[in-house]
Amino acid sequence: MCGIVGYIGDLRATDVILNGLKKLEYRGYDSCGISFLDSSKKEFTTYKTVGRVDLLINSFDYNVENKVGIGHTRWATHGEPNQVNSHPHSSSSKRFIVVHNGVIDNYLELIARYLEGVKLISETDTEVIANLVEKFSQTMSAEEAVRKTLSLLEGSYALLIMDNEEVNKIYAAKNKSPLLIGSSDKGITFGSDLMALVGNSEYYYLIEDKTFIVAKTNGKPDFQAYDIIGKKVKLDQHKMDLADNEIDKGGYEHFMLKEISEQPAVIRRILAKYMVDGKLKISDEVKAKFINKKRIYIIAAGTSIHAGFIGKYYFENLTKIPTEVFIASEFAYNQPLLEKDGIFILISQSGETADLRACLVNIRQMGYPSLTITNVITSTLAREADMRLEIFAGPEIAVASTKAYVAQVTVLAILAYSLAKEKSFDLGFELSRVSIAMESLIDQKEYIEGLVTRKLKKRNCFYIGRGIDYYTSLEAALKLKEISYIQTEGFAAGELKHGTIALIEKDVPVIAIITQKNTSHNTRSNVHEVKARGATTIIISLESVADNSDDIILSDVHQMLAPLLSVVPTQLIAYYKAKELNLDIDKPRNLAKSVTVE
Ligand code: F6R
Repeated sequence: MCGIVGYIGDLRATDVILNGLKKLEYRGYDSCGISFLDSSKKEFTTYKTVGRVDLLINSFDYNVENKVGIGHTRWATHGEPNQVNSHPHSSSSKRFIVVHNGVIDNYLELIARYLEGVKLISETDTEVIANLVEKFSQTMSAEEAVRKTLSLLEGSYALLIMDNEEVNKIYAAKNKSPLLIGSSDKGITFGSDLMALVGNSEYYYLIEDKTFIVAKTNGKPDFQAYDIIGKKVKLDQHKMDLADNEIDKGGYEHFMLKEISEQPAVIRRILAKYMVDGKLKISDEVKAKFINKKRIYIIAAGTSIHAGFIGKYYFENLTKIPTEVFIASEFAYNQPLLEKDGIFILISQSGETADLRACLVNIRQMGYPSLTITNVITSTLAREADMRLEIFAGPEIAVASTKAYVAQVTVLAILAYSLAKEKSFDLGFELSRVSIAMESLIDQKEYIEGLVTRKLKKRNCFYIGRGIDYYTSLEAALKLKEISYIQTEGFAAGELKHGTIALIEKDVPVIAIITQKNTSHNTRSNVHEVKARGATTIIISLESVADNSDDIILSDVHQMLAPLLSVVPTQLIAYYKAKELNLDIDKPRNLAKSVTVE
């Protein structure tokens, strides 16, 4: 969702900020803007536009000396995506300039209480912040005015604030929305995502909620952090271990295709990370928390919940602990009856999903142990849960999740296997087989492209499967709809005939996933039913249950791990359909990579 970048230092601020905003594009946005100090005029210049960062770069002249600035990519929440609502926002006298991620819940009350008579030009909650600081600065210093404003805000925020009367300073603050600081001897960079700091920061610092920061240049650029009561705090320094070339397309036309292609390597990386003395192992601390647990509760959203369903299958089959899966946005406010001896697993690629964070607050209040499974070990959910497991997928830039999903399922399998009392197969060996099978499948991607051209011609589509194949169907359908905008449903194959089969007519594509011995016969019957009603079918099957005439036959792997392999052709189907339709594959409309509002 919205992205923030700020810079103060020796480099040209607009270069650092625009470069950072480009790196945040993957998170999704609809407008963008920048404010920077034109050193010759000693005042801030602001440019904004609806649309892409490239437009912001190409529409304006940055060819002036400038060393301080803030920028933003906006994903509209309060007010439509237009130039007036886009950030940065100024106070009415233009003294204070603000960029903000998050949602201020009490902004209407704050207007009524403090800003009577102030003319607000946008529909945003952010403009209220700028004007509150301005109002309070009439009777106190700017720094005190920022602090007083922060003390009144309810909701989530990552904020950067500049003051036209003290131009060599940036104030920053954070509550619930992510914000990080990067440093090098060339300057201080702020970013709402580690990606924004890559390339110009040698170190990075995580910021706790309710922290207030002042960055300034008095000769050397530096910053000081303060806690909620104004006491100086020292932030832990981390070495930046991401390089620019890890977040580029590496010769692929799209990030999504690159990330699909990386999946075999991701499985191998996870194996290397979790292998100790030739055995797959989860830390004793995590394992201990599962002892005597009667229920596992999994909470997630979107693609991650589909990984959660497969996780349920693994936990119930390998550990015999009943497992329930909940949609985060539902669990947060409609809590079901819970078992006293339960444990929660939160699955999140980004570790920043606001719906999940709302759940974690409840879970902690109720005293349940919590484990976050995430790709971003520095994320809010990773830090706030009792325990964390990293999925090691590497940066996932395409909005549609592919390699993170495969990595989540792989780590869930390793966790369930580690907790299992009896181990009837060698998971490490079986996962290696999956990675090899995936590689040969990805090598045949042009064949799948041809299949898409021949068989996917309608504006709607169905995926069907049973058991874990049904869960894969859900993920496959989400992938196709989110990037090709084709209305797609994932359906339990046997359930189709109880109503939805009414939608099957000539040439409607029905894609069946068949990898499990116990249900392959039944799913094939369902394929016959839809064929008889004119559907165009594609069958994706595992070699051991395949029929020669099936469209995509996957090399045999352990049946339990089949979801890792069968999801790959569905990712490629989505990719090639979106490509055929000439759509923005990596940045589909209306979507954000990290959904930081509820
Ligand atoms: C779809 C997709 C989303 C995310 C969902 C949760 O391809 O990526 O459905 O899975 O927004 O995000 P995380 O996993 O970051 O919590």
